[in-house]
Amino acid sequence: MATTVSSSTPIINPGSLQRLEPLQVPQRCLLGPGPSNADPRVIAAMNHQPIGHLDPAYLAIMDEVQGLLRYTWQTENPLTYAVAGTGSAAMEATLANAIEPGDRVLVAVNGYFGHRLVDMARRYGADVSTIHRPWGEAFSLDQLTTALEQYQPAVLAIVHAETSTGVCQPLAGLGAACRAQDCLLVVDTVTSLGGVPIFLDEWQVDLAYSCGQKGLSCAPGISPFTMGPRAVAKLEQRRQPVANWYLDAALLRKYWGPERVYHHTAPVNLTYALREALRLLAVEGLEARWQRHQQTAEYFWAGLADLGLTCHVAQEWRLPTLTTVRVPDGVDAKAVGRQLLMDHNIEIGGGLGDLAGKVWRVGLMGYNSHRANVDTLLQAMAEVLAQHR
Ligand SMILES: Cc1ncc(COP(=O)(O)O)c(C=O)c1O
Repeated sequence: MATTVSSSTPIINPGSLQRLEPLQVPQRCLLGPGPSNADPRVIAAMNHQPIGHLDPAYLAIMDEVQGLLRYTWQTENPLTYAVAGTGSAAMEATLANAIEPGDRVLVAVNGYFGHRLVDMARRYGADVSTIHRPWGEAFSLDQLTTALEQYQPAVLAIVHAETSTGVCQPLAGLGAACRAQDCLLVVDTVTSLGGVPIFLDEWQVDLAYSCGQKGLSCAPGISPFTMGPRAVAKLEQRRQPVANWYLDAALLRKYWGPERVYHHTAPVNLTYALREALRLLAVEGLEARWQRHQQTAEYFWAGLADLGLTCHVAQEWRLPTLTTVRVPDGVDAKAVGRQLLMDHNIEIGGGLGDLAGKVWRVGLMGYNSHRANVDTLLQAMAEVLAQHR
């Protein structure tokens, strides 16, 4: 009997799809919460042809990325690599590898991304407790220490740079407080890495993650991840394997480490990009980079005051990478953002969660952190606001 084979003629027609022009992308100045503009040298690095993810030349690039990440984070953690995915994938990797089902996890929530940590931790079977600060304030070490004593968690998760509020969470002393309770410290450094001082080992942080597209001036889709010795010891003694196969550090360490066991097809071009972004950071030097961010942000804050605008966060906690600007009464925040984009090619962000409609979020990160961008933005804001006030 003859078998039926499917027709070799496609059933769905391309129609007008065949008339699409080659890709064109508008030139934007990305001064929102991310992505920020990538350094043109990073885009050039990404432009090379892919090579195999087990090619010795690629393996050498991976080693360089690991060394550069250790410098950028100020850590000696051997298990430091780049996750193939955005910051949320690295966040998920961190929680998936830190949490065993049933673990008590404490999350310090003072913004949108704290809530995301809670949601993810629950999905990995954690028994989650939370402590809170208003959106725009940081936790004191006392408050965190008291909560550690009260909840006795196996893991404390906290955001260093809350992108929804513009708050920088002081971390000195927290690692020691966690160790005193035999608790792992997880820190989100998505909006701080490459723009704000971070001393991962000195601060005794056990796990951290970040992203490519903010302070590092890379493209989105590749994200730093690191695990210290206490977290690795827990990983090695797990009763159950990590629930997320793709992000399991026990498997990934065999690819990023000397064994070089195939795990997934690496995002080769994004790895080129990250290597270039981190190389440029190393050439500039961390201290100079942090100073550049601080000086650009202070210049921006002064300019905002000249325009009669106010920052949402008190100066002691204000992030240099991300500023939340209060929307004046009666002004339509979304309309202003749209006009900045359409008339001036400048992207800024709107408020999230509790701050929706109440603030704009302005990022001055990595390649974009310089005075010329501030001047351009302030001038555009003055023009647009004059039409909206
Ligand atoms: C603090 C923080 N954590 C996590 C994320 C998630 O990163 P991504 O959007 O790259 O997935 C973001 C994104 O802005 C963030 O700001």
